[in-house]
Amino acid sequence: MPKLKLYGDEVEFETGMTVMQVCEQAGIEIPRFCYHERLSVAGNCRMCLVEVKPGPPKPAASCAMPAGDGMEVETDSEMVRTARNGVMEFMLINHPLDCPVCDQGGECDLQDQSLAFGSDKSRYTEKKRIPDEKYMGPLIKTIMTRCIHCTRCVRFSTEVAGVTDMGLLNRGEHAEISSLEKAISSELSGNLVDLCPVGALTSKPYENKARPWELKKTESIDVMDAMGCNIRIDSRGNEVLRILPRLNEDINEEWISDKTRHACDGLKNQRLDRPYIRGDDGKLVTASWDQALNAVKQGLSGLKGNEIAAIAGDQADVESMFALKELMNSIGSTNIDCRQDGAKLDNSVRASYLFNSTIAGIEDADAILIIGANPRWEAAVLNARIRKQWLTGKLKIGLIGEKLDLAYDYEYLGAGLETLAEFVSGKKSEFSDILSKAERGMLILGNSAICRDDGADILGAAHKIADRWMIKDDWNGFNMLHTAASRVGGLDIGFIPDDKNINVNKIIAAAKTGNIKAIYLLGADEIDTKALEKSFVIYQGHHGDAGATCADVILPGSAYSEKSASYVNLEGRVQMTKRAIYAPGDAKEDWAIIRALSETLGKKLDYDNLSQLRIKLREKFPHMAEIDIVPDEKWAEFGSSNKLKTGKLLTNIDNFYMTDPISRASITMANCTKEVILNTREAKISNG
Ligand code: SF4
Ligand code: SF4
Ligand code: FES
Repeated sequence: MPKLKLYGDEVEFETGMTVMQVCEQAGIEIPRFCYHERLSVAGNCRMCLVEVKPGPPKPAASCAMPAGDGMEVETDSEMVRTARNGVMEFMLINHPLDCPVCDQGGECDLQDQSLAFGSDKSRYTEKKRIPDEKYMGPLIKTIMTRCIHCTRCVRFSTEVAGVTDMGLLNRGEHAEISSLEKAISSELSGNLVDLCPVGALTSKPYENKARPWELKKTESIDVMDAMGCNIRIDSRGNEVLRILPRLNEDINEEWISDKTRHACDGLKNQRLDRPYIRGDDGKLVTASWDQALNAVKQGLSGLKGNEIAAIAGDQADVESMFALKELMNSIGSTNIDCRQDGAKLDNSVRASYLFNSTIAGIEDADAILIIGANPRWEAAVLNARIRKQWLTGKLKIGLIGEKLDLAYDYEYLGAGLETLAEFVSGKKSEFSDILSKAERGMLILGNSAICRDDGADILGAAHKIADRWMIKDDWNGFNMLHTAASRVGGLDIGFIPDDKNINVNKIIAAAKTGNIKAIYLLGADEIDTKALEKSFVIYQGHHGDAGATCADVILPGSAYSEKSASYVNLEGRVQMTKRAIYAPGDAKEDWAIIRALSETLGKKLDYDNLSQLRIKLREKFPHMAEIDIVPDEKWAEFGSSNKLKTGKLLTNIDNFYMTDPISRASITMANCTKEVILNTREAKISNG
């Protein structure tokens, strides 16, 4: 291996590393503004200057300089210190004295570096340049006098997000970052705020809300989609003020979507903070917990087990689904379903409902066939991983379904089932050739595709395609792209009917005809609630959304930020949320509500606290104890082998920003819907 000398010590490095990387590897931190590990090298801030010999007697930008065998590097010599002091002085020439009122204060790279390299006086007497503030949409506030032109924002949006909205206009003293007064049309735009090393781009919804040292920081898991992105919840008192990403190379690297980050204001709005009972006049009135639980008892009394059903929503946690399943079984009902959208999945083969290649595995893929999915809206951060691999030039992508802007090029193969049938039959085409030559082929099947009546046929077709091209000894290329955080956990613990002929659609149809007389909605809001008019409806959840409006009894539960709970992500990885704040008012943790109800119903569940519940859960489902592990699942037959029908494959999500009770209650998400979704649609219509 090549070696260089760092302060006289020989350090080995791999060919292709930069001087900065070698220094980092040796434990020497180099100050930087423009360099970021996940972006291309720009080399334009000059903060990372070091002294390198042999070479011209001037400092060199270590982020852009390739390390060479035999080099001698100094990172703290007189020349380096003078150079960095000079760079800092230039940087501060036009920088305002804003720290006391700057939202970046306390977590600002420039503030930190100026402490080390700044001077306590200015030699610059001219007027500072004052670029105008720029409009970048409802999520990003700009104060462009603070911009140091590092271009991280431009590189992130073009390289990671795949949008060309940001750019550096003009040159020299007139250089300005701008999105041309347009909202940034990316679901990942909030990451720009994290990347901006100064307070030029800050979070608009968090503007003037808090200082970093006031916040309680809780490490948790996101539930806005099925990825299980790792997050940090920052709260003050009993209010969540912001959500930031946590590094997890296997899942979200260091990115999160705008919904994950900014839907948190929805945690305050439309909350169910007290139990409610529907009175004789048809209006919901507040009640005590005892009254509400007794009202449930009364509503269920005299009903046979098969006249009662339960549906779990998209954000239900494993523990509460487990407790509800046990309670339903104890009263003689197996009419339970966690597939509120009607997905035609069962849990007989675990590989049939997982993202088997893993999210990180996308970086090994050389071909991807997307079927009836919109990864950009269904799992925005996962889509960025596809784009990352596509940018290497090694990945070919084909799409069957709706034509979409996915932020990367793909071969559009067809709109629907006719094209899918051709792939099932193995008919030769340009893309089938690509699949047959691929060593690491992937198939991504969208959840929308299997929610249709013929979903099982489509699942079976996807199985055949995967079987032909994507299953290798050490590789499973079949991937189900879920959108619900609860789905894999629900399937894992069997929150589905024992009878394969029953499913959520049949349960709802039976409720419409009066055959199902009582229905328990565990945060289930995306169903046809009008069909439940004849039933006695118990709604347990955290928001006054669709499910609560049709309820006869409301039992207020906790949102993901208010409980410690397990979720299994789309890869089959068990992760846990942590409680950041307490649920409002009289609301309680979901498992505890079900446990209390079991006692009222005289069917007391066998646990008095969460630890006891988890012991029971893990006895029955041992993998629930294997936190953050993705096991290899056996490949087997699944789906139906019926001939495919004809028709288009459409995706279910028509608004990325509002897909669940929390984001629907978020004012920030409503603003994004207006600015990004509706304005884009209007522009498309007016452009014909
Ligand atoms: Fe201070 Fe940093 Fe804000 Fe500049 S960007 S005003 S240095 S906190
Ligand atoms: Fe860098 Fe921030 Fe300016 Fe963009 S806005 S160039 S990230 S300082
Ligand atoms: Fe090297 Fe900016 S970090 S030039």
